[in-house]
Amino acid sequence: MIKLFQSWWKKGDRPASSENLSVADLLENNIPEHVAIIMDGNGRWARKRGMPRNMGHRSGMKAVKRATIAADELGISVLTLYAFSTENWKRPKEEVDYLMAIPQEFLALELDELVQKNVRIRMMGYTKELPDHTIAAMKEAIERTKNNTGLILNFALNYGSRREITESVKELAHSVQAGEISAEDITEEMIQSRLLSSGLPDPDLLIRTSGELRLSNFMLWQTAYSELWFTDLYWPDFGREHLFAAVAEFQRRTRRYGGLSK
Ligand code: IPE
Ligand code: IPE
Ligand code: MG
Repeated sequence: MIKLFQSWWKKGDRPASSENLSVADLLENNIPEHVAIIMDGNGRWARKRGMPRNMGHRSGMKAVKRATIAADELGISVLTLYAFSTENWKRPKEEVDYLMAIPQEFLALELDELVQKNVRIRMMGYTKELPDHTIAAMKEAIERTKNNTGLILNFALNYGSRREITESVKELAHSVQAGEISAEDITEEMIQSRLLSSGLPDPDLLIRTSGELRLSNFMLWQTAYSELWFTDLYWPDFGREHLFAAVAEFQRRTRRYGGLSK
């Protein structure tokens, strides 16, 4: 009877807040290899407190640190964080300027610890439009962590999925034009290997905060079979326990990839 109750309890939809999950509990089941997060709600978090939007972005940096440490604790291989989209340039200059200063500010505070924690930093996005100081900060972080072998912390910065797919297809079209391949020979792998995420596994788990239920041009190709997890929390309020709750929920899902469950 107790056993029956336990298995029901494990599968049941307990609210995330009542879950007191430990690393050990989670490690008993499969851990997602790649977790991607759409970090949303910084502006609303600040507004709710009567503060300027940029204070929300500043506070969001602490959540980045918490998520990184929690992902590392669980032995997740890749944590991709959507930091700035190719559409976010539409925002007021003051906000864009601050968002472009964040990598510098964040890395000045945290890079030493990330190096020490064996974290490897990567970037996924278009550098062409980024200010020099933003590129310099990212380059330094990538360079200083290039020999690390632990968690890959992948920042999606000036990232847009439609642009990435378009670029990939364009490259292939050039190859066809040059007579290197025929159009008939184009495969999914050829498109995939030309995406900015090349070399990384597809996200197993995609998290979006702030209550919005959309992808906002994020990893459209790569999330074809990702498990999606949404929360109403604003990004600055996201912590270790929420990542753990998302992973616990992931562990209760059955992934079928169009087939049938075992
Ligand atoms: C996410 O928070 C950060 C970025 C998009 C850069 P937002 O700035 O989108 O915050 P909301 O959604 O307006 O609350
Ligand atoms: C998505 O959030 C982009 C990032 C989190 C970096 P947005 O706030 O830009 O998305 P929309 O505009 O609500 O779809
Ligand atoms: Mg938003």
